Amino acid sequence: MDRPILISPSILSADFARLGEEVRAIDAAGADWVHVDVMDGHFVPNITIGPMVVKALRPHTAKLMDVHLMITPVDPMLDAFAEAGSDLITVHQEAGPHLHRTIQRIKALGKKVGVSLNPSTPAKMLDYVLEEIDLVLVMSVNPGFGGQSFIESQLRKIEAIRKSIEKLGKPIHLQVDGGVDQNTAPRVIAAGADVLVAGTATFRGGPDAYAANIKGLRGA
Ligand code: DX5
Ligand code: ZN
Repeated sequence: MDRPILISPSILSADFARLGEEVRAIDAAGADWVHVDVMDGHFVPNITIGPMVVKALRPHTAKLMDVHLMITPVDPMLDAFAEAGSDLITVHQEAGPHLHRTIQRIKALGKKVGVSLNPSTPAKMLDYVLEEIDLVLVMSVNPGFGGQSFIESQLRKIEAIRKSIEKLGKPIHLQVDGGVDQNTAPRVIAAGADVLVAGTATFRGGPDAYAANIKGLRGA
């Protein structure tokens, strides 16, 4: 396996009082993307940030802004997140009845599109949309909070989705989010993931540790 591994630190674990600075710090520390967790207190039991914060952070980095929408309904908010400066917009398969339509809308807005699956959602839910998207996000914890333990069964799902992507022969990213740290990262990569989201494991130890933390996740 020689595919490049990308690290997308989740700013959910950053200091929210200093978010701009934190984004600049992970950018300088070698982050490939910036993962923004958007929660609505409805689809998931927590509330985080909205398009205004994405817009405020946009000038702080030129790296890909990876926006993970854990909200329902999601369609009415897509334009706002696109205009705020998102580069990649990931929606949950479970968030609404018209996933195909949602995907088309994100593409029409000129953004890359990702689809996320909760831990209980089978890989086969992607069968009729995989060819339409740029990224699959496998949730390896139940979405809502940082700092949870990695759910082992998701390794099998990652393997299955990697096979489907290979069969399709398209350059679709396979991202994993939740409980990814220096111990689980190598297993997630071996199962076929190429983009690792990490909140706790990136931000632990404060700014002086970010570069080493990111390097550790990449397995360098
Ligand atoms: C969980 C979020 C994750 C979370 C990961 O709902 O989608 O991005 O921040 O946190 P860690 O890496 O701490 O498990
Ligand atoms: Zn996330």
